[in-house]
Amino acid sequence: MRLIKIFDTTLRDGEQSPGASMNVQEKVTVAKQLARLGVDIIEAGFAFSSPGDFEAIKTIGNEVEGPVICSLARAREEDIKAAWEALKDAPKKRIHTFHSTSDIHLKYQFRVTREEALKRSVEMVSLARSFIDDVEFSPMDATRTDIEYLCEIVEAVIEAGASTVNIPDTVGYSIPSEFGAMIKAIHEKVGNIDKAVIAVHCHNDLGLSTANSLAAVLNDAGQIECTINGIGERAGNCSMEEVVMALRTRRDVFNADTKINTEEIMRSSRLVTKITGISVQPNKAIVGSNAFAHESGIHQDGLLKEKSTYEIIRPESVGLYSAKLVLGKHSGRHAFKTRLKELGYSLEGDELNEVFERFKKLADQKKEIFDEDIEALISEGVAKAPEIYSLVDLYIVSGVNQKPTAAIKLRAGDEVLDKLEYGDGPVDATYKAIASVTNTKSKLLKFEVKGITGGTDALGEVVVSLEEDGGTARGHGADTDIIVAAAKAYINALNKLEARKKQ
Ligand code: KIV
Ligand code: ZN
Repeated sequence: MRLIKIFDTTLRDGEQSPGASMNVQEKVTVAKQLARLGVDIIEAGFAFSSPGDFEAIKTIGNEVEGPVICSLARAREEDIKAAWEALKDAPKKRIHTFHSTSDIHLKYQFRVTREEALKRSVEMVSLARSFIDDVEFSPMDATRTDIEYLCEIVEAVIEAGASTVNIPDTVGYSIPSEFGAMIKAIHEKVGNIDKAVIAVHCHNDLGLSTANSLAAVLNDAGQIECTINGIGERAGNCSMEEVVMALRTRRDVFNADTKINTEEIMRSSRLVTKITGISVQPNKAIVGSNAFAHESGIHQDGLLKEKSTYEIIRPESVGLYSAKLVLGKHSGRHAFKTRLKELGYSLEGDELNEVFERFKKLADQKKEIFDEDIEALISEGVAKAPEIYSLVDLYIVSGVNQKPTAAIKLRAGDEVLDKLEYGDGPVDATYKAIASVTNTKSKLLKFEVKGITGGTDALGEVVVSLEEDGGTARGHGADTDIIVAAAKAYINALNKLEARKKQ
Protein backbone atom coordinates (compact mmCIF):
# COMPACT_ATOMS: atom_id res chain seq x y z
CA MET A 1 0.00 0.00 0.00
CA ARG A 2 1.61 3.30 -1.10
CA LEU A 3 1.24 6.31 1.18
CA ILE A 4 0.27 9.43 -0.78
CA LYS A 5 1.32 12.75 0.75
CA ILE A 6 -1.39 15.34 1.25
CA PHE A 7 -0.18 18.86 0.55
CA ASP A 8 -2.85 21.24 1.76
CA THR A 9 -3.00 24.64 0.07
CA THR A 10 -6.20 25.98 1.67
CA LEU A 11 -4.18 28.84 3.17
CA ARG A 12 -2.55 29.78 -0.16
CA ASP A 13 -4.47 28.72 -3.29
CA GLY A 14 -7.67 28.36 -1.22
CA GLU A 15 -7.23 31.89 0.02
CA GLN A 16 -7.18 33.03 -3.61
CA SER A 17 -10.95 32.32 -3.80
CA PRO A 18 -12.75 35.63 -4.12
CA GLY A 19 -13.61 36.93 -0.64
CA ALA A 20 -11.70 34.17 1.20
CA SER A 21 -8.76 36.16 2.51
CA MET A 22 -7.90 35.31 6.09
CA ASN A 23 -6.04 37.23 8.76
CA VAL A 24 -3.08 35.82 10.69
CA GLN A 25 -5.15 34.57 13.61
CA GLU A 26 -7.64 32.86 11.28
CA LYS A 27 -4.83 31.21 9.31
CA VAL A 28 -3.22 29.89 12.48
CA THR A 29 -6.55 28.43 13.61
CA VAL A 30 -7.01 26.64 10.28
CA ALA A 31 -3.39 25.43 10.32
CA LYS A 32 -3.85 23.90 13.78
CA GLN A 33 -6.91 22.04 12.51
CA LEU A 34 -4.98 20.87 9.42
CA ALA A 35 -2.37 19.45 11.77
CA ARG A 36 -5.09 17.56 13.68
CA LEU A 37 -6.40 16.32 10.35
CA GLY A 38 -2.95 14.89 9.65
CA VAL A 39 -1.95 16.60 6.39
CA ASP A 40 1.71 16.11 5.49
CA ILE A 41 2.44 19.62 4.23
CA ILE A 42 0.70 22.96 4.85
CA GLU A 43 1.26 25.65 2.23
CA ALA A 44 0.74 28.50 4.66
CA GLY A 45 0.91 31.37 2.17
CA PHE A 46 3.10 33.33 -0.19
CA ALA A 47 5.62 35.15 2.01
CA PHE A 48 6.63 37.87 -0.44
CA SER A 49 3.04 38.78 -1.35
CA SER A 50 2.13 40.69 1.84
CA PRO A 51 3.31 41.37 5.40
CA GLY A 52 0.20 39.50 6.63
CA ASP A 53 1.14 36.36 4.69
CA PHE A 54 4.73 36.63 5.89
CA GLU A 55 3.63 36.85 9.51
CA ALA A 56 1.11 34.01 9.10
CA ILE A 57 3.79 31.69 7.70
CA LYS A 58 6.20 32.62 10.47
CA THR A 59 3.62 32.14 13.23
CA ILE A 60 2.37 28.85 11.78
CA GLY A 61 5.97 27.65 11.47
CA ASN A 62 6.54 28.44 15.15
CA GLU A 63 3.23 27.26 16.56
CA VAL A 64 1.95 24.36 14.48
CA GLU A 65 3.51 20.99 15.15
CA GLY A 66 3.48 18.01 12.83
CA PRO A 67 3.24 18.98 9.16
CA VAL A 68 5.99 20.49 7.02
CA ILE A 69 5.27 24.22 6.63
CA CYS A 70 5.71 25.63 3.15
CA SER A 71 5.78 29.05 1.51
CA LEU A 72 5.13 29.73 -2.15
CA ALA A 73 7.71 31.84 -4.02
CA ARG A 74 7.87 32.91 -7.64
CA ALA A 75 11.15 32.04 -9.37
CA ARG A 76 12.63 35.32 -8.16
CA GLU A 77 15.40 36.03 -5.72
CA GLU A 78 13.34 38.39 -3.55
CA ASP A 79 10.50 35.85 -3.25
CA ILE A 80 12.80 33.00 -2.28
CA LYS A 81 14.61 35.12 0.30
CA ALA A 82 11.28 36.23 1.82
CA ALA A 83 10.09 32.60 1.93
CA TRP A 84 13.30 31.62 3.73
CA GLU A 85 13.02 34.52 6.22
CA ALA A 86 9.44 33.52 7.05
CA LEU A 87 10.28 29.84 7.40
CA LYS A 88 13.72 29.75 8.93
CA ASP A 89 12.62 29.06 12.54
CA ALA A 90 10.15 26.32 11.60
CA PRO A 91 11.33 22.83 12.52
CA LYS A 92 10.04 21.32 9.23
CA LYS A 93 10.01 23.63 6.22
CA ARG A 94 9.75 23.71 2.44
CA ILE A 95 10.08 26.37 -0.26
CA HIS A 96 7.75 25.90 -3.24
CA THR A 97 8.92 27.86 -6.25
CA PHE A 98 7.31 27.99 -9.67
CA HIS A 99 7.71 29.29 -13.21
CA SER A 100 5.33 29.03 -16.15
CA THR A 101 6.36 26.64 -18.88
CA SER A 102 3.57 26.65 -21.49
CA ASP A 103 4.27 28.57 -24.69
CA ILE A 104 1.06 30.57 -24.13
CA HIS A 105 2.34 31.86 -20.77
CA LEU A 106 5.95 32.31 -21.89
CA LYS A 107 5.02 34.23 -25.03
CA TYR A 108 2.13 36.41 -23.85
CA GLN A 109 2.64 36.82 -20.11
CA PHE A 110 6.35 36.54 -19.34
CA ARG A 111 7.86 37.30 -22.77
CA VAL A 112 10.75 34.92 -22.24
CA THR A 113 12.02 31.99 -24.29
CA ARG A 114 11.85 28.37 -23.15
CA GLU A 115 15.63 28.46 -22.57
CA GLU A 116 15.36 31.56 -20.37
CA ALA A 117 12.53 30.02 -18.33
CA LEU A 118 14.56 26.84 -17.81
CA LYS A 119 17.69 28.74 -16.79
CA ARG A 120 15.81 30.89 -14.29
CA SER A 121 13.98 27.88 -12.83
CA VAL A 122 17.25 26.02 -12.28
CA GLU A 123 18.92 29.08 -10.75
CA MET A 124 16.05 29.69 -8.36
CA VAL A 125 15.82 26.05 -7.28
CA SER A 126 19.58 26.20 -6.57
CA LEU A 127 19.12 29.42 -4.61
CA ALA A 128 16.29 27.86 -2.58
CA ARG A 129 18.48 24.80 -1.96
CA SER A 130 21.20 27.06 -0.57
CA PHE A 131 18.76 27.83 2.26
CA ILE A 132 16.78 24.64 2.69
CA ASP A 133 16.89 20.93 1.80
CA ASP A 134 13.21 20.55 0.96
CA VAL A 135 12.46 22.39 -2.32
CA GLU A 136 9.44 21.90 -4.56
CA PHE A 137 9.25 23.19 -8.12
CA SER A 138 6.09 23.68 -10.22
CA PRO A 139 6.14 24.21 -13.99
CA MET A 140 2.99 26.34 -14.10
CA ASP A 141 0.41 25.50 -16.78
CA ALA A 142 2.15 22.12 -17.17
CA THR A 143 -0.85 20.51 -18.86
CA ARG A 144 -0.59 22.98 -21.80
CA THR A 145 3.19 22.62 -22.00
CA ASP A 146 4.99 20.69 -24.71
CA ILE A 147 5.77 17.32 -23.09
CA GLU A 148 9.38 17.14 -24.30
CA TYR A 149 10.14 20.58 -22.87
CA LEU A 150 8.25 19.76 -19.67
CA CYS A 151 10.41 16.65 -19.15
CA GLU A 152 13.55 18.66 -19.89
CA ILE A 153 12.73 21.27 -17.25
CA VAL A 154 11.64 18.65 -14.70
CA GLU A 155 14.94 16.81 -15.15
CA ALA A 156 16.94 20.06 -14.85
CA VAL A 157 15.26 21.21 -11.61
CA ILE A 158 15.69 17.78 -10.03
CA GLU A 159 19.37 17.97 -10.98
CA ALA A 160 19.45 21.40 -9.28
CA GLY A 161 18.06 19.88 -6.08
CA ALA A 162 14.24 19.92 -6.21
CA SER A 163 12.97 16.96 -4.19
CA THR A 164 9.35 17.39 -5.30
CA VAL A 165 8.17 18.31 -8.78
CA ASN A 166 4.58 19.36 -8.93
CA ILE A 167 2.61 19.09 -12.18
CA PRO A 168 -0.14 21.72 -12.07
CA ASP A 169 -3.23 21.67 -14.22
CA THR A 170 -3.34 25.41 -13.64
CA VAL A 171 -6.40 26.18 -15.75
CA GLY A 172 -8.25 22.91 -15.13
CA TYR A 173 -7.98 21.93 -18.79
CA SER A 174 -6.91 18.31 -18.65
CA ILE A 175 -9.03 15.17 -18.55
CA PRO A 176 -8.20 12.04 -16.52
CA SER A 177 -6.87 9.80 -19.32
CA GLU A 178 -4.67 12.59 -20.66
CA PHE A 179 -3.41 13.71 -17.23
CA GLY A 180 -2.63 10.13 -16.18
CA ALA A 181 -0.70 9.65 -19.44
CA MET A 182 1.27 12.84 -18.76
CA ILE A 183 2.37 11.60 -15.33
CA LYS A 184 3.30 8.26 -16.89
CA ALA A 185 5.34 9.99 -19.62
CA ILE A 186 7.23 12.02 -16.99
CA HIS A 187 8.11 8.79 -15.19
CA GLU A 188 9.34 7.23 -18.42
CA LYS A 189 11.20 10.16 -19.96
CA VAL A 190 12.84 11.93 -16.99
CA GLY A 191 16.10 10.12 -16.27
CA ASN A 192 16.44 11.22 -12.61
CA ILE A 193 12.75 11.03 -11.64
CA ASP A 194 13.56 8.48 -8.93
CA LYS A 195 15.24 11.34 -7.00
CA ALA A 196 11.99 13.30 -6.61
CA VAL A 197 8.36 12.87 -5.67
CA ILE A 198 5.85 13.72 -8.42
CA ALA A 199 3.05 15.89 -7.05
CA VAL A 200 -0.13 17.02 -8.80
CA HIS A 201 -2.12 20.22 -8.40
CA CYS A 202 -5.42 20.15 -10.27
CA HIS A 203 -7.90 22.97 -10.71
CA ASN A 204 -11.59 22.29 -11.11
CA ASP A 205 -12.65 24.38 -14.11
CA LEU A 206 -14.18 21.33 -15.82
CA GLY A 207 -15.18 19.66 -12.56
CA LEU A 208 -12.39 17.09 -13.06
CA SER A 209 -9.85 18.02 -10.39
CA THR A 210 -10.47 15.00 -8.16
CA ALA A 211 -10.67 12.59 -11.10
CA ASN A 212 -7.44 14.00 -12.56
CA SER A 213 -5.62 13.72 -9.21
CA LEU A 214 -6.75 10.11 -8.87
CA ALA A 215 -5.64 9.33 -12.44
CA ALA A 216 -2.22 10.67 -11.44
CA VAL A 217 -2.13 8.37 -8.38
CA LEU A 218 -2.85 5.42 -10.69
CA ASN A 219 0.26 6.51 -12.57
CA ASP A 220 2.44 6.68 -9.47
CA ALA A 221 2.15 10.31 -8.39
CA GLY A 222 3.17 10.50 -4.73
CA GLN A 223 1.68 13.80 -3.55
CA ILE A 224 -1.70 15.45 -4.07
CA GLU A 225 -2.22 19.17 -3.62
CA CYS A 226 -5.70 20.03 -2.47
CA THR A 227 -7.84 22.30 -0.30
CA ILE A 228 -10.57 21.86 2.28
CA ASN A 229 -13.99 22.09 0.58
CA GLY A 230 -12.13 22.45 -2.75
CA ILE A 231 -11.85 26.23 -2.39
CA GLY A 232 -9.33 28.04 -4.58
CA GLU A 233 -8.73 30.18 -7.62
CA ARG A 234 -11.83 30.34 -9.92
CA ALA A 235 -13.67 26.98 -9.73
CA GLY A 236 -11.28 25.89 -7.00
CA ASN A 237 -8.79 23.10 -6.40
CA CYS A 238 -9.04 19.37 -5.92
CA SER A 239 -11.01 18.91 -2.75
CA MET A 240 -9.15 17.19 0.10
CA GLU A 241 -12.16 15.32 1.44
CA GLU A 242 -13.06 13.88 -1.97
CA VAL A 243 -9.63 12.68 -2.92
CA VAL A 244 -8.85 11.29 0.55
CA MET A 245 -12.16 9.44 0.82
CA ALA A 246 -11.87 8.11 -2.73
CA LEU A 247 -8.46 6.63 -1.89
CA ARG A 248 -9.67 5.24 1.44
CA THR A 249 -12.93 3.81 0.08
CA ARG A 250 -11.34 2.31 -3.06
CA ARG A 251 -8.01 1.09 -1.71
CA ASP A 252 -8.72 -2.02 -3.75
CA VAL A 253 -8.32 0.04 -6.95
CA PHE A 254 -5.61 2.50 -5.98
CA ASN A 255 -3.53 0.33 -3.68
CA ALA A 256 -2.74 3.62 -1.97
CA ASP A 257 -3.89 5.57 1.08
CA THR A 258 -3.04 8.73 3.04
CA LYS A 259 -2.25 9.49 6.68
CA ILE A 260 -5.36 11.62 7.02
CA ASN A 261 -7.39 11.21 10.20
CA THR A 262 -10.70 11.19 8.33
CA GLU A 263 -12.78 11.75 11.49
CA GLU A 264 -11.48 15.33 11.45
CA ILE A 265 -12.89 16.01 7.95
CA MET A 266 -16.26 17.50 8.92
CA ARG A 267 -14.73 19.72 11.59
CA SER A 268 -12.12 20.99 9.14
CA SER A 269 -14.80 21.66 6.53
CA ARG A 270 -16.99 23.58 8.98
CA LEU A 271 -14.10 25.60 10.29
CA VAL A 272 -13.04 26.67 6.80
CA THR A 273 -16.65 27.55 5.95
CA LYS A 274 -16.93 29.64 9.09
CA ILE A 275 -13.66 31.44 8.65
CA THR A 276 -13.92 32.13 4.92
CA GLY A 277 -17.70 32.64 4.83
CA ILE A 278 -17.83 30.34 1.77
CA SER A 279 -20.63 27.80 2.21
CA VAL A 280 -20.53 24.29 0.84
CA GLN A 281 -23.27 23.34 -1.63
CA PRO A 282 -25.71 20.83 -0.01
CA ASN A 283 -25.00 18.12 -2.59
CA LYS A 284 -21.20 18.42 -2.32
CA ALA A 285 -19.56 15.00 -1.99
CA ILE A 286 -18.55 14.03 1.57
CA VAL A 287 -19.11 17.37 3.34
CA GLY A 288 -22.38 18.65 1.83
CA SER A 289 -25.36 18.68 4.19
CA ASN A 290 -27.14 16.15 1.93
CA ALA A 291 -24.12 13.88 1.39
CA PHE A 292 -25.48 11.31 3.85
CA ALA A 293 -29.18 12.16 3.68
CA HIS A 294 -31.32 9.43 2.15
CA GLU A 295 -34.65 10.74 0.93
CA SER A 296 -36.26 8.07 -1.21
CA GLY A 297 -38.40 5.41 0.48
CA ILE A 298 -36.61 2.60 -1.34
CA HIS A 299 -33.24 3.82 -0.13
CA GLN A 300 -34.46 4.30 3.43
CA ASP A 301 -35.95 0.82 3.41
CA GLY A 302 -32.63 -0.65 2.25
CA LEU A 303 -30.65 1.30 4.82
CA LEU A 304 -32.84 0.16 7.68
CA LYS A 305 -32.26 -3.43 6.63
CA GLU A 306 -28.54 -3.14 5.98
CA LYS A 307 -26.48 0.06 5.84
CA SER A 308 -24.20 -1.12 3.04
CA THR A 309 -27.15 -1.24 0.62
CA TYR A 310 -26.89 2.50 -0.02
CA GLU A 311 -24.04 3.76 2.15
CA ILE A 312 -20.47 3.49 0.85
CA ILE A 313 -18.96 5.60 3.63
CA ARG A 314 -19.96 5.55 7.29
CA PRO A 315 -20.85 9.15 8.27
CA GLU A 316 -18.93 8.75 11.55
CA SER A 317 -15.77 7.94 9.60
CA VAL A 318 -15.70 11.55 8.36
CA GLY A 319 -16.67 12.94 11.75
CA LEU A 320 -20.38 13.34 11.12
CA TYR A 321 -22.47 12.41 14.13
CA SER A 322 -26.14 13.02 14.63
CA ALA A 323 -26.61 16.10 16.80
CA LYS A 324 -25.62 14.96 20.26
CA LEU A 325 -26.94 16.60 23.37
CA VAL A 326 -23.84 17.54 25.26
CA LEU A 327 -24.38 20.09 27.93
CA GLY A 328 -26.95 22.27 29.62
CA LYS A 329 -27.27 25.14 32.00
CA HIS A 330 -26.01 23.17 35.00
CA SER A 331 -22.90 21.89 33.29
CA GLY A 332 -19.75 23.09 34.97
CA ARG A 333 -16.51 24.39 33.66
CA HIS A 334 -14.83 21.01 33.92
CA ALA A 335 -17.47 19.25 31.81
CA PHE A 336 -17.32 22.08 29.29
CA LYS A 337 -13.54 21.91 29.03
CA THR A 338 -13.67 18.11 28.66
CA ARG A 339 -16.21 18.36 25.85
CA LEU A 340 -14.07 21.01 24.12
CA LYS A 341 -11.14 18.64 24.30
CA GLU A 342 -13.20 15.80 22.82
CA LEU A 343 -14.10 18.16 19.99
CA GLY A 344 -10.42 18.84 19.41
CA TYR A 345 -10.12 22.30 21.01
CA SER A 346 -7.66 22.80 23.82
CA LEU A 347 -8.43 26.22 25.24
CA GLU A 348 -6.84 27.57 28.36
CA GLY A 349 -6.76 30.74 30.45
CA ASP A 350 -8.58 33.81 29.13
CA GLU A 351 -9.63 32.10 25.94
CA LEU A 352 -11.34 29.32 27.89
CA ASN A 353 -12.94 31.82 30.30
CA GLU A 354 -14.42 33.83 27.45
CA VAL A 355 -15.92 30.84 25.65
CA PHE A 356 -17.24 29.45 28.95
CA GLU A 357 -18.91 32.76 29.68
CA ARG A 358 -20.55 32.75 26.26
CA PHE A 359 -21.62 29.14 26.85
CA LYS A 360 -23.27 30.06 30.16
CA LYS A 361 -25.17 32.93 28.54
CA LEU A 362 -26.33 30.60 25.77
CA ALA A 363 -27.36 27.93 28.27
CA ASP A 364 -29.63 30.49 29.90
CA GLN A 365 -31.36 31.08 26.57
CA LYS A 366 -31.36 27.57 25.16
CA LYS A 367 -32.11 24.39 27.10
CA GLU A 368 -29.96 22.00 25.10
CA ILE A 369 -26.50 22.74 23.84
CA PHE A 370 -25.18 20.64 20.95
CA ASP A 371 -21.67 20.21 19.56
CA GLU A 372 -22.56 22.55 16.69
CA ASP A 373 -23.53 25.26 19.20
CA ILE A 374 -20.17 24.93 20.92
CA GLU A 375 -18.38 25.16 17.59
CA ALA A 376 -20.34 28.34 16.81
CA LEU A 377 -19.26 29.83 20.15
CA ILE A 378 -15.67 28.99 19.35
CA SER A 379 -15.84 30.44 15.86
CA GLU A 380 -17.17 33.66 17.37
CA GLY A 381 -13.97 33.65 19.41
CA VAL A 382 -11.90 32.96 16.28
CA ALA A 383 -13.51 35.95 14.56
CA LYS A 384 -12.75 38.18 17.53
CA ALA A 385 -11.52 41.66 16.76
CA PRO A 386 -10.40 44.51 19.03
CA GLU A 387 -13.58 45.80 20.69
CA ILE A 388 -13.58 49.32 19.28
CA TYR A 389 -17.37 49.18 19.30
CA SER A 390 -19.36 46.79 21.45
CA LEU A 391 -23.06 46.16 21.63
CA VAL A 392 -24.66 47.47 24.83
CA ASP A 393 -28.32 47.31 23.97
CA LEU A 394 -30.68 46.76 21.07
CA TYR A 395 -34.43 47.35 21.04
CA ILE A 396 -36.44 46.30 18.01
CA VAL A 397 -39.98 46.91 16.83
CA SER A 398 -41.23 44.82 13.93
CA GLY A 399 -44.35 43.01 12.85
CA VAL A 400 -47.43 43.30 10.69
CA ASN A 401 -48.52 46.97 10.36
CA GLN A 402 -45.46 48.09 12.35
CA LYS A 403 -42.76 50.40 11.12
CA PRO A 404 -39.53 48.41 11.59
CA THR A 405 -37.52 50.35 14.15
CA ALA A 406 -34.20 49.78 15.87
CA ALA A 407 -32.81 51.65 18.86
CA ILE A 408 -29.19 50.79 19.42
CA LYS A 409 -26.60 51.55 22.10
CA LEU A 410 -22.93 50.93 21.37
CA ARG A 411 -19.94 51.45 23.60
CA ALA A 412 -16.96 53.18 21.98
CA GLY A 413 -14.19 53.61 24.54
CA ASP A 414 -15.67 55.48 27.51
CA GLU A 415 -18.65 56.74 25.56
CA VAL A 416 -22.02 55.11 25.02
CA LEU A 417 -23.52 56.15 21.68
CA ASP A 418 -27.16 55.65 20.80
CA LYS A 419 -29.38 56.01 17.78
CA LEU A 420 -32.84 55.16 16.58
CA GLU A 421 -33.52 54.34 12.92
CA TYR A 422 -36.31 52.98 10.76
CA GLY A 423 -35.81 50.49 7.95
CA ASP A 424 -37.37 48.01 5.53
CA GLY A 425 -37.18 45.32 8.18
CA PRO A 426 -35.61 44.84 11.61
CA VAL A 427 -32.16 43.97 10.21
CA ASP A 428 -32.22 46.93 7.86
CA ALA A 429 -33.24 49.27 10.70
CA THR A 430 -30.51 47.82 12.96
CA TYR A 431 -27.85 48.19 10.28
CA LYS A 432 -28.91 51.76 9.55
CA ALA A 433 -28.70 52.61 13.26
CA ILE A 434 -25.23 51.04 13.56
CA ALA A 435 -24.00 52.73 10.37
CA SER A 436 -25.27 56.08 11.57
CA VAL A 437 -23.87 55.82 15.09
CA THR A 438 -20.43 54.69 13.87
CA ASN A 439 -20.35 57.00 10.83
CA THR A 440 -19.04 54.12 8.76
CA LYS A 441 -18.51 54.59 5.03
CA SER A 442 -18.28 50.84 4.46
CA LYS A 443 -20.52 48.97 2.03
CA LEU A 444 -22.25 45.71 2.87
CA LEU A 445 -21.13 43.11 0.30
CA LYS A 446 -22.67 40.01 1.77
CA PHE A 447 -25.20 39.05 4.44
CA GLU A 448 -25.87 35.40 5.21
CA VAL A 449 -27.92 33.91 8.00
CA LYS A 450 -28.33 30.29 8.96
CA GLY A 451 -29.62 28.17 11.82
CA ILE A 452 -26.91 26.13 13.50
CA THR A 453 -29.10 23.32 14.82
CA GLY A 454 -32.78 22.54 14.31
CA GLY A 455 -35.54 23.97 16.48
CA THR A 456 -36.93 27.43 17.07
CA ASP A 457 -34.50 28.05 19.92
CA ALA A 458 -31.50 27.26 17.68
CA LEU A 459 -28.52 29.56 17.52
CA GLY A 460 -28.65 31.72 14.43
CA GLU A 461 -25.34 32.52 12.82
CA VAL A 462 -24.79 35.56 10.65
CA VAL A 463 -21.81 36.19 8.41
CA VAL A 464 -21.34 39.59 6.77
CA SER A 465 -18.72 41.01 4.51
CA LEU A 466 -17.96 44.74 4.41
CA GLU A 467 -15.88 46.75 1.98
CA GLU A 468 -14.19 50.09 2.59
CA ASP A 469 -11.46 51.76 0.52
CA GLY A 470 -10.74 48.55 -1.36
CA GLY A 471 -10.30 46.49 1.84
CA THR A 472 -12.79 43.88 2.97
CA ALA A 473 -13.61 42.45 6.38
CA ARG A 474 -15.79 39.54 7.40
CA GLY A 475 -17.83 39.56 10.58
CA HIS A 476 -19.48 36.70 12.48
CA GLY A 477 -22.20 36.80 15.07
CA ALA A 478 -24.15 34.02 16.77
CA ASP A 479 -27.16 34.37 19.03
CA THR A 480 -30.53 32.75 19.62
CA ASP A 481 -31.99 36.08 18.42
CA ILE A 482 -31.05 36.48 14.77
CA ILE A 483 -31.35 40.28 14.84
CA VAL A 484 -28.85 40.37 17.70
CA ALA A 485 -26.64 37.90 15.75
CA ALA A 486 -26.88 40.24 12.73
CA ALA A 487 -25.91 43.25 14.86
CA LYS A 488 -22.96 41.35 16.38
CA ALA A 489 -21.73 40.27 12.93
CA TYR A 490 -21.89 43.84 11.59
CA ILE A 491 -20.07 45.24 14.65
CA ASN A 492 -17.46 42.48 14.42
CA ALA A 493 -16.70 43.39 10.78
CA LEU A 494 -16.66 47.13 11.58
CA ASN A 495 -14.19 46.49 14.41
CA LYS A 496 -11.90 44.68 11.97
CA LEU A 497 -12.04 47.56 9.49
CA GLU A 498 -11.39 50.12 12.25
CA ALA A 499 -8.52 48.07 13.71
CA ARG A 500 -6.94 47.87 10.25
CA LYS A 501 -7.21 51.66 9.86
CA LYS A 502 -5.51 52.16 13.22
CA GLN A 503 -2.66 49.85 12.21
O1 KIV B 1 -2.37 26.52 -10.20
C1 KIV B 1 -1.14 26.64 -10.18
O2 KIV B 1 -0.45 26.43 -11.17
C2 KIV B 1 -0.53 27.10 -8.95
C3 KIV B 1 0.97 27.05 -8.89
C4 KIV B 1 1.53 28.18 -8.14
C5 KIV B 1 1.40 25.72 -8.37
O3 KIV B 1 -1.21 27.40 -7.99
ZN1 ZN C 1 -3.28 26.59 -8.23
